Amino acid sequence: MTSTTPVRIGPDSSSTFLDAIKYRRTIYGVTDNVSVSDGRIIEIVNEVIQTIPSSWNMQSTRIVVTLGAAHKKFWDAVINAARPFVLETKGESDWKRNEDRFNSFKAAYGTISLFEDHTSIENLHRRFSQFPITVFETFAEHSNAMHQIALWTALELEGLGASLQHSHFVPGVEDGIRSTFDIPPTWSVKAEIVFGALAGDRPTKPEKKPVSTTVKVFH
Ligand SMILES: Cc1cc2nc3c(=O)[nH]c(=O)nc-3n(C[C@H](O)[C@H](O)[C@H](O)COP(=O)(O)O)c2cc1C
Repeated sequence: MTSTTPVRIGPDSSSTFLDAIKYRRTIYGVTDNVSVSDGRIIEIVNEVIQTIPSSWNMQSTRIVVTLGAAHKKFWDAVINAARPFVLETKGESDWKRNEDRFNSFKAAYGTISLFEDHTSIENLHRRFSQFPITVFETFAEHSNAMHQIALWTALELEGLGASLQHSHFVPGVEDGIRSTFDIPPTWSVKAEIVFGALAGDRPTKPEKKPVSTTVKVFH
């Protein structure tokens, strides 16, 4: 949908949106044999970043899209950066398990990495310096997560399978990604969405706690 497409507003209009968010799943084992064009993937990213809200409209989220060969290069950078730390702290068999997992992501078609630009957060903090900067860092994380769910859902509605990864938590990996793709030092990575073509059935929805436990309603 483009920004000029009229949206139906009224009773039950939210059903389409709810159907979309209910459809999304964590999907592993995807391949690089995708039929969605790079142009459409980039269009989705551009629409999402131009749509999702941020605290005081600070727009601190940054996105790096790696497709095809660049996606393989991304996961080679992760593997090369993670290897020394995992080998040293966990040993050979643990590294083998990690390497297999990273290679399963490398077998996908694309990775969308989401960052937060600390310069934008500092600029907003200067306007409201009576509050600690952690307030704005937290708001930035919230907005980043909103981008994540929108991208993840949109990719799956295109027929792709995707999962949300945080491989940058392995020490050294963020620097490996940064140097490979010339990422500015003020951008810090928050999540990686790995996506590709489905190789099997879509998983079923995991069990959820009853709403009687998780929701309180007052009239
Ligand atoms: C904030 C957040 C962080 C997550 N981190 C990871 C991750 O690092 N690696 C991974 O494989 N899945 C990750 N997941 C996926 C969850 O395990 C998954 O969403 C959950 O089990 C529910 O399954 P569903 O996505 O099919 O609804 C994450 C999900 C969320 C919301």
